[in-house]
Amino acid sequence: MAASARVTRNILCIGAGYVGGPTMAVIAARCPQYRVTVVDVNPVRIDAWNSDRLPIYEPGLLEIVKIARNRNLFFSTDIGRGIGEAEVIFVSVNTPTKTFGAGAGKAADLQYWEKTARDILRASRSDKIIVEKSTLPVRTARAMERILEANDKGIRFEVLSNPEFLAEGTAVDDLNNPDRVLIGSHETEAGIKARNVLVEIYANWVPVERILTSNVWSAELSKLASNAFLAQRISSINSISALCEKTEANVNEVARAIGMDRRIGNRFLRASVGFGGSCFKKDILNLVYLCEKYGLHEVALYWESVIAINDYQKRRFVKTMLRVMFNTIAGKKIALFGFAFKADTGDTRESPAIDVARELAEEQAHVVITDPQALRNAENDLASCRMQVTFTEDPYEAASGAHAIAVMTEWELYKTLDYQRIFDGMEKPAFLFDGRNILDHEKLHEIGFNVFPVGEAALKHF
Ligand SMILES: NC(=O)c1ccc[n+]([C@@H]2O[C@H](COP(=O)([O-])OP(=O)(O)OC[C@H]3O[C@@H](n4cnc5c(N)ncnc54)[C@H](O)[C@@H]3O)[C@@H](O)[C@H]2O)c1
Repeated sequence: MAASARVTRNILCIGAGYVGGPTMAVIAARCPQYRVTVVDVNPVRIDAWNSDRLPIYEPGLLEIVKIARNRNLFFSTDIGRGIGEAEVIFVSVNTPTKTFGAGAGKAADLQYWEKTARDILRASRSDKIIVEKSTLPVRTARAMERILEANDKGIRFEVLSNPEFLAEGTAVDDLNNPDRVLIGSHETEAGIKARNVLVEIYANWVPVERILTSNVWSAELSKLASNAFLAQRISSINSISALCEKTEANVNEVARAIGMDRRIGNRFLRASVGFGGSCFKKDILNLVYLCEKYGLHEVALYWESVIAINDYQKRRFVKTMLRVMFNTIAGKKIALFGFAFKADTGDTRESPAIDVARELAEEQAHVVITDPQALRNAENDLASCRMQVTFTEDPYEAASGAHAIAVMTEWELYKTLDYQRIFDGMEKPAFLFDGRNILDHEKLHEIGFNVFPVGEAALKHF
């Protein structure tokens, strides 16, 4: 950092992933007076953050990183040193669904989280504010406090909950201009003092009326509830899409009509092959597990149904493909347009494309995956069915000689392709399954495709 700039705070973030990296890049770019360090156990990730090939793709991220990197933003694997120097420590390590033991398949796996607490305890020599950025079960802050309080160094730790609401694909915009920032703290003198430090950090660029404060447990629960509500809207419109296909109602028309009711609102009402991403399913499962733990079985069942509908939607999509392609796709080439769980990200965690590709491969189709950002991840995700799957960045090559195209991700790119050229190179009859309802179906039908949108009547030539 330039010798003349005065560092007023040392901020550390543990976990250099989809949340930690962009969040700290924005804080550093917005606040040159702070020294911001991001640490991770994974040296490959840290090397990538220190290069021009960042480990994650987000529009505008590289530009922001370049503004601050090696000025007041540093990426490192020296976790102990980072902890020693920081007064505010954000923790944004992964909290996946537990795959073993009690609560397997539902509860959050807190092993990375707890390890971080112990690292903090070991390397601290002064008082610290610990900020939960990871999404955690309600009352996790208490567990963190218990671990941190078990020290005889005379050090005080204050734990705040500051869940992250950014959406992948728009992370930089969301961080620059958040709907709200939520900070949960204890209502003690020390809790309020720590909260004020975090409010002051965000107030560098977020209008104060958008900085909400609450108790710690409300903040933790708000994140789980927020993701559950978002996913529930998608499952709600997707459940209606199934009925539309049976009744010749059109789900887009229905969504428009209900969305104009201001009590409902028009966002997140797009029917599709289903939601994905690392958070929705995991956070709902976490909520379900908590409800069961507290004996709220009806509430648990209610939220579990959001995931059940999502699984149903993915299965339904493949079933339609199989049925209309004469009940056999063995040996047929099928191109998946997109593999990322949404546009503008390379992230494929829980992407519906994974399930669709695997099911098609199981039916012995030859699946060709194309995606502008997600092919590296796709190759890992489909390692178990490598024999049936190939990958190409070029959508024209992917579709050449194919019997069918299935749109899995709403990349802008797919709206502007030359579909006449694509049609000419395909086997006939040529099928197009629009799992995101983004293409011009009438036009595709005119070209000669048999078009199968989600929640709308198919446009067929037979
Ligand atoms: N991805 C999102 O869109 C999003 C949005 C909001 C909240 N969240 C939540 O934020 C948290 C992080 O999510 P993510 O997508 O950034 O995960 P991620 O897997 O991309 O990143 C987590 C990072 O933490 C590192 N890590 C794990 N244990 C560590 C340790 N002990 N010390 C140092 N580093 C360690 C991992 O190596 C990894 O690089 C999760 O709880 C998630 O639910 C994610």
